Amino acid sequence: MTSLDLKQEILDLKKSRNAVILAHNYQSAEIQDVADYVGDSLGLAYHAKETNADVIAFCGVHFMAETAKIVNPEKIVVLPDKDAGCSLEQSCPAEQLEAFISANKEKNYYVIAYINCSGAVKALCDVICTSGNAVKIVNQAPKDRPILFVPDENLGAWVIEQTGRKMDLWKGNCYVHVEFTRESIQRIKSEYPDALVVAHPECPQAVRLLADEVCSTEKMVDYCKNAPVKNIIVVTESGMLHRLRKECPDKNLIPGPTDRCACAECHYMKMNTLQKLRDCLANLSPRVEMEESIRKRAEAPLLRMLEQSKA
Ligand code: 13P
Ligand code: SF4
Repeated sequence: MTSLDLKQEILDLKKSRNAVILAHNYQSAEIQDVADYVGDSLGLAYHAKETNADVIAFCGVHFMAETAKIVNPEKIVVLPDKDAGCSLEQSCPAEQLEAFISANKEKNYYVIAYINCSGAVKALCDVICTSGNAVKIVNQAPKDRPILFVPDENLGAWVIEQTGRKMDLWKGNCYVHVEFTRESIQRIKSEYPDALVVAHPECPQAVRLLADEVCSTEKMVDYCKNAPVKNIIVVTESGMLHRLRKECPDKNLIPGPTDRCACAECHYMKMNTLQKLRDCLANLSPRVEMEESIRKRAEAPLLRMLEQSKA
């Protein structure tokens, strides 16, 4: 079967299932091209909340599909590969967070969770944030309570720099973004001395300091469109380059290299394929399911985020 046939089959199944295909900016080019919406975690959360479809085929990683399920308990949410995880999610098991919060009860932490975490972790938090709204969310946190920010220490450190708000940080990170180093980015900058650098806030501080702009994947699209130069070094997962090249055809978009590779790839994001997308629409499996009590507790901080994000 050609990839054209496969795409047609996916479109037919989408129609017969009354499904919507949501894809993250790091998905493969062929998945992005067949999706109804491609975006960052924040845009995907809004789209999941607003869709009228009966089935959501979520092409991203598990916590993203789970987020769609949290706000859509009555809908079927399928993920092409159920093992598409995330190192940030893994770095913060709910039992460990629960134990930490209860051992530090006297602090009365206001807990902010980056959306890259499990539903069970979301259920323990006061509010969720994404890289696209983290500064806004932290700025709205109660001034009289200390903040515990989980699970990304790099995003957390960047938000502290942006807001001046002190926070205690969970020691988690993204295994893809910590591969970028000061040396690897300086090397590519010396090859393109006139280039601007845009980096994701999950990068370590030494890399962020070399960037002209630090922002979420969606904001990278506007940044590249409006940049007054042709050459732009993009320091994030390589799937982003497909989206950017489509949206900014006049720009030369250069993937940020690591010390080992010419670009960085999240193997979890790339576990989804067109075949698996077709299969999950055909079989309505694998489905994302959640225990209702956890889902309910995770929904409140998520809805708080969607509300505060509009402020
Ligand atoms: P964005 O919300 O910026 O798309 O980031 C999600 C992510 O997983 C980055 O590694
Ligand atoms: Fe998680 Fe990093 Fe992959 Fe994003 S790029 S899904 S943070 S492991």
